[in-house]
Amino acid sequence: MPCRSLKKTFVNLFDSEPRIFCAPGRVNLIGEHTDYNDGYVFPMALAEKTCVAISPRNDRKLVVQSLRIDDKIERSLNELEPRKDWSDYVAGMAWVIEQAGYPLIGANMLISSNVPLGAGLSSSAAIEISSGLALASTIGLQVDSKTWAKWGQKAENQFVGMNCGVMDQFISIHGKENHALFLDCRTLDYQLVPLPADQIRIIICNTMVKHELGASEYNTRRKECENGVELMKSMYPDIKALRDVSPEQFYKAEHLLDDPVKKRCRHVVTEDQRVLDSIQALQQHDLKTFGQFMNASHDSLRDDYKVSCKELDLMVDIARTLDGCLGARMTGGGFGGSTVNLVLEEFERDFVAAIKESYQTTTGIDPQIVVSVPSAGAKEC
Ligand code: GLA
Repeated sequence: MPCRSLKKTFVNLFDSEPRIFCAPGRVNLIGEHTDYNDGYVFPMALAEKTCVAISPRNDRKLVVQSLRIDDKIERSLNELEPRKDWSDYVAGMAWVIEQAGYPLIGANMLISSNVPLGAGLSSSAAIEISSGLALASTIGLQVDSKTWAKWGQKAENQFVGMNCGVMDQFISIHGKENHALFLDCRTLDYQLVPLPADQIRIIICNTMVKHELGASEYNTRRKECENGVELMKSMYPDIKALRDVSPEQFYKAEHLLDDPVKKRCRHVVTEDQRVLDSIQALQQHDLKTFGQFMNASHDSLRDDYKVSCKELDLMVDIARTLDGCLGARMTGGGFGGSTVNLVLEEFERDFVAAIKESYQTTTGIDPQIVVSVPSAGAKEC
């Protein structure tokens, strides 16, 4: 919903003028399951975003209404405990801000969003960052953008209970129009890299499936990576995370590991290298090579990291048969959600029509296809 209509609805519901803060979802172009291994990622912010209208109250109550799921929830700032519903993303941010030493006041909040849910496009980071900025505005609190990324991750890790890395929250606040963002997840140093919008389209294909085992498998993968690091320490005592192991070092040490840990580590160390190599290719305007790294990323996620599923593999396989498709891979945590495809601009229409039809014919599911626009990060609107 555009900000103007959100404002109008808010005034009707709460009888006061709100401020509005919006934060986007993201698509990751390459660098999957590397963020929590201190590695590299290359996401971009989407035009799809979550907007939170807010005005302060005189008490310590958060009255939060969602237009998307037509639900209204009241929570007290005095008892911030996870409830396992959508309002935990908002309450989690309030909890993090108070934990950091900034007492909040109550607020009325109205939320609208067009970030697809369960599609691997970070609808959760979008609601975290937008509601965090909104809550902070009620007490005039300003913190730097990296702190917001870390606070969003903390809310998700410690309140919502999902042990994610920092990528999604970071891009939601740091995105820039026409750019993707190369992030070093250890140092949080980053570089905005222009995408050649006149030549290519980034097309997102939502499989419309989300397999439940995603969350528990995510935590298992994290543990497997940590195990790998512990075992390789006998050869490389200084390593702290898989980020510290180059592919060459890995191949010298892989005899120390058994499957599945060996395969998980192989994915991460080669994926970090692919991020570095693919960005170099992009900077040399070699889109074909960038696409090949995307393909290799998917194959590694499917075969070594084992976080793909048959619907994602099908979507990728179809894409790779289509004219103008330079690269296709799953994006986000996996086990359903979306693929991201690098498609030459002149093939956009044919690609969208063909992939939609082919996926539907095979699965009976109508996929959602979005031609995405690299967009700006969170801001007041
Ligand atoms: C999810 C997490 C991210 C990242 C990806 C996989 O989206 O939220 O932190 O780990 O999975 O790359």
